[in-house]
Amino acid sequence: MASVKIKDNIYWVGAIDFNIRNFHGYKTPDGTSYNAYLVIDEKITLIDSVKEAFSQDLIDNISEIIDPKKIDVIICNHVEPDHSGAIQEVVKLNPNVEIYTSANGKKGLMAYYDAADWNYHVVGTGDQLNTGKYTFNFVMTPLIHWPDNMVSYLEEEEILFSNDAFGQHYASNKRYASEVGVAKALEKAKDYYANIVLPYDVQVKKALKDLGPLKISLIAPSHGLMWDGETIPPMLDKYVDWSDNKCDEKKAMVIYDTMWGATETIAKKIVKDFNAKGIEAELIDLKYTHVSEAMDKLMEAKYICVGSSTLNRSIMPTVASFLAYMRGLGPKNRIGLAFGSYGWSGESVKIIEETLETCKFEMLDTIKVQYKDFSKLYEKSIL
Ligand code: FEO
Repeated sequence: MASVKIKDNIYWVGAIDFNIRNFHGYKTPDGTSYNAYLVIDEKITLIDSVKEAFSQDLIDNISEIIDPKKIDVIICNHVEPDHSGAIQEVVKLNPNVEIYTSANGKKGLMAYYDAADWNYHVVGTGDQLNTGKYTFNFVMTPLIHWPDNMVSYLEEEEILFSNDAFGQHYASNKRYASEVGVAKALEKAKDYYANIVLPYDVQVKKALKDLGPLKISLIAPSHGLMWDGETIPPMLDKYVDWSDNKCDEKKAMVIYDTMWGATETIAKKIVKDFNAKGIEAELIDLKYTHVSEAMDKLMEAKYICVGSSTLNRSIMPTVASFLAYMRGLGPKNRIGLAFGSYGWSGESVKIIEETLETCKFEMLDTIKVQYKDFSKLYEKSIL
């Protein structure tokens, strides 16, 4: 995709990755984009770059506007290779280019690349870069998404270059949330938050507080669509809700895998019990739903019920994968339920229960069925 003019002197020069379907374990059915931005001033500034494989797209897009050798400054908001991978190409073209990044950013760039001799300017919150008529203000946002993260605010145009924050894995020819509709953009942002940002709620809250005083006319993240006009307030509001681990008391997810159908029978009974109490419940069979899709679905659910047949004195591999993934992402403020079936040894329910307890979920009574003896299953409701 060609470069896109955002405002006079400011351009999107990134790359669209329509084909990526797995982002280190996170399923990305709609691809993604690596957004980089070019600001033309007395000092010409590139904000972030793209994944290394897309380096030529970046260079081509910059070349539509200026000779890439003329770039004076690179702001590296984040070292993860989806944003820093093509910086090497720009440095090759202009070895003296100034690189503005955080202290951890400098460490990360030096550890990833042959970058010991790069021309670094280490910045912290409150530091500024004046490029002529424009002023960039830097705010450190560690752990959104790595320890090196920062955001850059272009004061005169009220643009927040937010890197991973407010991003979405969404490939499109459209560049603005208003073009695809705020509902679709928020849906993709929720999926991204659930699978990338969720563990860092404390850091998100701090970032929202630090960014609160800024007047923002455009949020330009490093993935997906830019948040413009009326799409900005709902996006910020959602980050408040999500970092609060706000969830819906009337929603439940019943997530399981089953060998011969007994665990699924329990799952369906659990759904009926929720429905009888006016709670919406959804069945998620992990044979058919990827763990990252399951995470997206449970973002707003108060109840997280997980079930597995006992398999070889353990749990089904799909359920083990889901539990490991969810535990790492660490949803909070939830009520859990462990359930399952077994033939003789029957370890699965205990394994699930212990894992949900490590997530600090409040727990409902477990449900355990041998073979298909459902005689006690229907005696009482889960709630
Ligand atoms: Fe999009 Fe943490 O990199």
